[in-house]
Amino acid sequence: MAKPVWYPAATSKELGRAPLGIAFLGQRLVLFRGKGGVPSALLDRCPHRGVSLSLGEVRDGDLACPYHGWRFGTDGRCTLIPSASNAEPKPKCAATAFPCVEAQGTVWVSSTQERPEQAPSWPRVGEPGYRDVELLNRIECPQLQVVQNFVDCAHTGILHRGLFRGEPSKEIRAHVELTPEGVASENFGETNPTGLLVRLLQRGNGGVRHTDTFRAPHTVEVNYWWGERHLVTTSISTPETATTTRVYTRIAMKFGLLDPLLLIAIRPFTARIFQQDKRILEDQARQLARYPDAPRASSAADLPCLWVEEAHRAATEPDAAPVSPRVKDVQYKL
Ligand code: FES
Ligand SMILES: [Fe+2]
Repeated sequence: MAKPVWYPAATSKELGRAPLGIAFLGQRLVLFRGKGGVPSALLDRCPHRGVSLSLGEVRDGDLACPYHGWRFGTDGRCTLIPSASNAEPKPKCAATAFPCVEAQGTVWVSSTQERPEQAPSWPRVGEPGYRDVELLNRIECPQLQVVQNFVDCAHTGILHRGLFRGEPSKEIRAHVELTPEGVASENFGETNPTGLLVRLLQRGNGGVRHTDTFRAPHTVEVNYWWGERHLVTTSISTPETATTTRVYTRIAMKFGLLDPLLLIAIRPFTARIFQQDKRILEDQARQLARYPDAPRASSAADLPCLWVEEAHRAATEPDAAPVSPRVKDVQYKL
């Protein structure tokens, strides 16, 4: 059986007092806050007659079904049947519960009924010297396309021309590693990106260090260092269904005196970039559905995307071949 993995299921802000019905990994779940505001995730299906529990309400820390009022605790167990006689034995039924934790402003739910070993966390968020912003996007495309997009440097100078980079012009070398955990790539010879915001950030002519890391099945971490200055953008993609994906993003930054300026500028800047990506990814999803068997051409710059596909498949498809680790350097223009 696949190992359990924490997925972002909602932002802490999205989950208020009312139960929240969500699409999560191809199922419907209901999130709600029990006693003390502790979040809980249940299958959104009443074990009595199947009604959506997300249409109900929270009563005394339990979730009450809107139909006959059966109540369920945060562990899913039925705690009350309003119509049951005092003589009737206590109910034994339960709604299916999934491990759920709230950390760093995110409500995380396990992909299975087992609890993942490690606690979930956003890189650098909350560390001294770092500030962060949060973004949330919904894209009508499969998860794989999203994670491939985030490691795909070759589109940045074209689709995001001017915002982020200019058209490809400089020969660079990328060192790419594939392991069962995912893909790590580092670019060498990359000059500073030339887009609007980035020109503001960089002072002096120090070089840039840039790495992209995919951690299967759902996380892409993009790091830029300019000397001591650091910008790390982490995106975790949660499939709602096989064809729609919610993308949770945290950008953590350490720029010292520039932080206040950055905190204002980075959100609209990144939102614009995501808008451009969303439009293309949704078109690509429709095209892939129209021409599912059409061969795809690739060039050297596509290696990270191809290896991400391999690692993603190994992590998400039970019958897929395990990853055999590889390392390769590729040269292309950025
Ligand atoms: S269907 Fe939920 S209580 Fe009857
Ligand atoms: Fe992009």
